[in-house]
Amino acid sequence: MGITVCTVSGKGGTGKSTVCSGLAIAAANKGGRVLLIDLDSGLRCLDTIFGIDDGVVFDLSDSIREFNSGKALYKAANYDNIFIIPAPASAEAIDFEKLRLIVDSLKESYDYIFLDFPAGVDFDAYNKFKDSLFLIVSASDDVSTKAAGVISSGISSDTDVRLIINRFDRDMISAGFYKNIDDVIDRAGARLIGIVPADGELLLLSRNHKIKPKGRAAKAFDRIIRRISKENVPLVALKKI
Ligand SMILES: Nc1ncnc2c1ncn2[C@@H]1O[C@H](COP(=O)(O)OP(=O)(O)OP(=O)(O)O)[C@@H](O)[C@H]1O
Ligand SMILES: [Mg+2]
Repeated sequence: MGITVCTVSGKGGTGKSTVCSGLAIAAANKGGRVLLIDLDSGLRCLDTIFGIDDGVVFDLSDSIREFNSGKALYKAANYDNIFIIPAPASAEAIDFEKLRLIVDSLKESYDYIFLDFPAGVDFDAYNKFKDSLFLIVSASDDVSTKAAGVISSGISSDTDVRLIINRFDRDMISAGFYKNIDDVIDRAGARLIGIVPADGELLLLSRNHKIKPKGRAAKAFDRIIRRISKENVPLVALKKI
């Protein structure tokens, strides 16, 4: 039975799509079979990240309308174990009731299913998946942290919610910005599951459609996917991220 993981943030551009793609790659590198469902109607970032832009004919709206999850399933360009259901092409609302049924029907076929939510806050939609793991992806700045706090304080109390601090810049430690990372975690209001470095390689993900397995970003994603998979992986010192 697969693990369902939702990436959310409140504020836009914090790195939800990058983080869920990096985690998908880390999971695939461990031999896992992974499905990513892009919920960002109209934008379809995951197609670009995984290099399938040109081949997409069907999307999530076809899957939901026909209750046919296989129709809009595309294999990532560089990974045999990663599959993507692209977001609806136009900026339309998603029927989360029906999406829930589709996700349930797919759980036996994948080790990990990622739901990449758009920016904004939609507690009704989150509630349909409250038995999933919610990863609040916050960039390191104070505005993202505040938006993360809005989600963590409003989400159902029986939901497993964890924080990912993304775009962490270790040069900012000496500048005094991260004097107290615990303060960031407190304001975000969720337990930390991992920190992802600011890394130019991730900026290039949408061009390369892959991540170097031994780089800093890959190592961070590997630690987080192992924690998601209930392995005991200690947090590393900030200056080593
Ligand atoms: N850790 C990182 N290091 C460097 N660049 C990053 C990192 N994380 C994300 N980015 C870059 O930041 C931009 C926004 O990332 P992304 O699209 O993943 O954010 P998002 O939260 O999914 O955005 P949206 O709210 O529009 O869905 C992209 O250009 C991406 O390459
Ligand atoms: Mg996104």
